[in-house]
Amino acid sequence: MASYKLLLLPGDGIGPEVMAEAEKLIAWFNAQGIARFEIERGLVGGSAYDAHGKAISESDMALAMASDAVLFGAVGGPKWDKVPYEVRPEAGLLRLRKDLGLFANLRPAICYPALADASSLKREVVEGLDILIVRELTGGVYFGEPKTITDLGNGQKRGIDTQVYETYEIERISRVAFDLALTRRNKVSSAEKRNVMKTGVLWNEVVTRIHAAEYPKVTLEHVLADNCAMQLVRWPKQYDVIVTDNLFGDVLSDVAAMLTGSLGMLPSASLGAPDARSGRRKSLYEPVHGSAPDIAGTGAANPIAMIASFGMALRYSLGLGDWATKLDQAIAAVLARGIRTRDIAGDQPPNATTTQMGAAILDEFKKLA
Ligand code: IPM
Ligand code: MG
Repeated sequence: MASYKLLLLPGDGIGPEVMAEAEKLIAWFNAQGIARFEIERGLVGGSAYDAHGKAISESDMALAMASDAVLFGAVGGPKWDKVPYEVRPEAGLLRLRKDLGLFANLRPAICYPALADASSLKREVVEGLDILIVRELTGGVYFGEPKTITDLGNGQKRGIDTQVYETYEIERISRVAFDLALTRRNKVSSAEKRNVMKTGVLWNEVVTRIHAAEYPKVTLEHVLADNCAMQLVRWPKQYDVIVTDNLFGDVLSDVAAMLTGSLGMLPSASLGAPDARSGRRKSLYEPVHGSAPDIAGTGAANPIAMIASFGMALRYSLGLGDWATKLDQAIAAVLARGIRTRDIAGDQPPNATTTQMGAAILDEFKKLA
């Protein structure tokens, strides 16, 4: 039986509550002897700042480097609004992405039939939606230098962020997108702003070349990122895989998230390059929703995105893709039974707390097992 090291970083706000539900599944896998998951726990974000004065400690970074997969909850909250920029909660997440080399961020947006009415768009627009945003995660304007605010001495300041991409970064993210498209509906839409940005011109050129040389069976289209945002709310089912840079991916994935009815539903996977010897990729799995400090501790949080993120870990890091499929089926079954946390209850009162939703999914999952 394969053994895997998992690092749990619940973080802040609702992070610990939703992580607790994923942990029950992990415990079940261990108890059934399906896999051997060795669990470590650490702090990230505001909770790490409170404990160590940093958004993540060196020892927790070392644990992350040594793990097969990091499960991440959420970071941030008003409590830490005033902490120095370098140690703000988000810095912990950005450091994990950068130091682990997690350049490929997979953000599926799936609209479960039972939730089509929870979307702000018409049912026919979103029902059955299944798209995947592949976001470049370690480059672009998030990390480009210079990144400064300088005082111009005349009462003015100048803020600078730098959008920078090199060929290899675009090559490797486009390969991830094309490979995934081959397992889906064979279409990649590459979004950039080549009409305004040099990085967009390069992005377009490199994606076109990789496609022609390596993936002739996949359909490739190029779309300007602003048009992509518009098309996503007009007719999202035209897309299969969307590949895009770090900042556009941040924005487009929030748009895609709302098509599905609730941010509380969406998981994500962040993957590094395969290790030369073991073939394993460094990886981090996190719900797309944030720390939601307004509902933390109330039992209102929806654990589905966290549980589905663990499902993505089963599929992409832990060699248990069949179990990931069963977990997705369990989530769909629970939704079809009408079990709803507040975020997906629509006009009705919610009928499940965080733990009740987690328990319902675990029950359905056991039946499928
Ligand atoms: C996301 C978030 C992060 C980002 C924040 C928390 C730094 O919005 O994962 O989409 O901008 O990447
Ligand atoms: Mg975001």
